[in-house]
Amino acid sequence: MQGSPMSSKIVVVGGHNYTDEAKELADLLGASHIGLTYKRFPDGEIYVRLEEPTIISGSMTVLLNTMYPCQNDMFVETLFLLNAVKRYNPKRIILCIPYLAYARQDKEFLSGEAISGEVIVRSLSLSGADTLIVVDIHAPHLLDHFGGNTVNVLISDLLVGEALKSMNNPLVLAPDKGAVGRARYAAETLGLEYDYLEKHRDRVTGEITIKPKRLSVKDRDVIIVDDIISTGGTIAKASEIVLEQGARKVYVAASHTLLIGDALNKIKRSGAKMIIAANTLAQKINDNFIRYVDVIPRLKEVIGTLIS
Ligand code: R5P
Repeated sequence: MQGSPMSSKIVVVGGHNYTDEAKELADLLGASHIGLTYKRFPDGEIYVRLEEPTIISGSMTVLLNTMYPCQNDMFVETLFLLNAVKRYNPKRIILCIPYLAYARQDKEFLSGEAISGEVIVRSLSLSGADTLIVVDIHAPHLLDHFGGNTVNVLISDLLVGEALKSMNNPLVLAPDKGAVGRARYAAETLGLEYDYLEKHRDRVTGEITIKPKRLSVKDRDVIIVDDIISTGGTIAKASEIVLEQGARKVYVAASHTLLIGDALNKIKRSGAKMIIAANTLAQKINDNFIRYVDVIPRLKEVIGTLIS
């Protein structure tokens, strides 16, 4: 535990798979970090126990966890941690979930579907979180289902800033119109130009087509920014299209690089030079093709502002 003057006021609890990030956050905040016992019963059920729970009483408690990989287990773990924290009477619980799972199911696309993202956000609220901080949630309107203060932290400027170290004449590009806010945010923060490609996803077959726009990508270094890289299909296709249109180099970046199955090789084959990723997930892929940026200092800034 840290010994700064703030340590009696702020306590950080981290999910069992996100402990390094929780310790880093506690260090940056000058807060106490509470350890955790996590285990599974023989039937697969999850057990959590906070070490030193009494220091929570009267504190601002920050609960930091993410929801990938093993979305369902990490969601349940988060609910259990909220329950454990709540019973020790913190002044306020700030729940920080850099990757909020199920946010892509943000409406009833086909009749009869559950709105899974709504269920996740409501459950977190009902389980005692006072404030919810997420990073670049796919559908920000889902946060309206939380019964308290929410913050959606954009990090596209950090991702693009990392790529800029090796780019000339850069252009920030979103793979579709819906993602353009992310490209705009990075471009405006860093004083760059931005644009977007048009994408269509067939909801039944999942097939993606990207209609090329008249982009001035010729001889430019392009960074394509998205919220999620899942199968890699969207960003690999965007990368191929931009290279066909004469871009000199293409980098791809996303706030949440799930990189399912063959996604990494797919992106390598697309001609992109590198993936810029962030530590919003409890997985770090060790490959020279991926460069990670650290989002914890940005979260510390946001939490510091909320607390003050
Ligand atoms: C979709 O609307 C999202 O913003 C991402 O573009 C999508 O989730 C990426 O998925 P994939 O990598 O499977 O193409």
